[in-house]
Amino acid sequence: MSTPTVNILVTGGAGFIGTNFVRYMLAKRPAYNIINYDKLTYAGNLENLKNVETKQKYTFVKGDICDAEQLKATFEKYHINIVVNFAAESHVDRSILGAKVFVETNVLGTQTLLEVSKEFAVKRFIQVSTDEVYGSLGETGFFTEETPLQANSPYSASKAGADLLVRAYFETFKLPCLITRCSNNYGPYQFPEKLIPLVIVNALNDKPIPVYGDGMNVRDWLFVEDHCSAIDTVLHKGKVGEVYNIGGNNEMPNTEIVRRILAYLQKPESLIKFVTDRPGHDRRYAIDSTKIQRDLGWKPADTFETALPRTIQWYLNNRAWWERILSGDYQKYYELQYEKR
Ligand code: NAD
Ligand code: DAU
Repeated sequence: MSTPTVNILVTGGAGFIGTNFVRYMLAKRPAYNIINYDKLTYAGNLENLKNVETKQKYTFVKGDICDAEQLKATFEKYHINIVVNFAAESHVDRSILGAKVFVETNVLGTQTLLEVSKEFAVKRFIQVSTDEVYGSLGETGFFTEETPLQANSPYSASKAGADLLVRAYFETFKLPCLITRCSNNYGPYQFPEKLIPLVIVNALNDKPIPVYGDGMNVRDWLFVEDHCSAIDTVLHKGKVGEVYNIGGNNEMPNTEIVRRILAYLQKPESLIKFVTDRPGHDRRYAIDSTKIQRDLGWKPADTFETALPRTIQWYLNNRAWWERILSGDYQKYYELQYEKR
């Protein structure tokens, strides 16, 4: 008997983690078909995938996860049997300025994707969630999969809403869903609105670096390739209906990260500007990833010591990539390369 073809719908594959995941899977699982389904919001950048787009196993579809009809046509055309849902509005500061699109994409979009996945009886639905759904920690303690959901920002509230819908589709319809909740990622292709790429880009342009509040908020940083390997592990070895926390055991206050980047780039600390705090700013995140390590055998390959310099170096080597984001030119790529075909 021949093995059925694996056709994975990667939603949000033109974003930061999605891009890294598409690249990771094309290299690690060369027999799989990867269908990247992305709306190309400001955060979607098809230039990230320029050098894989001619691969036979890779397809791009410009589409919205809120659009049931387009999803159905895509599932039918490409015989989708696995879904990995990265598509989201992902930036906390933007959710404070305008929450509606976060509810539309993160909640309604996920529900639409779940419904279509049910109709097409997919074999696995992976919801890529976040540690932010657990809220904020004090000086001590870790988030486990049993920690109650206590989202504090419109972004994290919308991700928590999505998680509950995913759980409901598993419990009610037996859709084979799994949820991953990961800590802060860093690495190549991260949009320069998030802390680490923003600091690198501003420092290289000798511009002020805004640090919110006292700069002592703590995040648990994970190199993006480790997140990709964790999702691949959950996809292949995870138990349906389960939640898996993913983290790097790599806690660091923001000021320390900023100082390390400035030191690497030999830029002065006088660039740091302490600014008004983010409203509802979560103080500390720390992940207990015992479950995925113990049950599925995953562990991160990198640490900040190895991967932060590599990440900074990537932004140094790929100046044209982020300059095209700052100028807005990256948004012309789809029109030039795809619409004219
Ligand atoms: P990102 O903002 O870089 O990318 C999001 C992608 O989704 C973009 O390509 C965008 O065009 C696409 N998108 C947005 N709305 C869409 C829609 N309606 N239909 C189809 N595509 C749409 O985000 P990221 O940092 O790569 O995060 C990816 C996922 O991982 C998100 O679900 C996020 O919540 C989660 N996550 C992120 C982190 C992190 O540190 N960045 C950590 C844990 C979890
Ligand atoms: O924990 C996972 C989450 O990590 C993901 O779910 C989100 O999608 C992702 O954006 C990220 O959220 P954060 O809010 O933690 O990331 P951000 O890079 O925006 O901020 C990191 C920390 O740095 C946070 O404490 C706020 C602070 N910060 C951020 C920016 C952009 C600053 O001090 N100055 C800044 O300019």
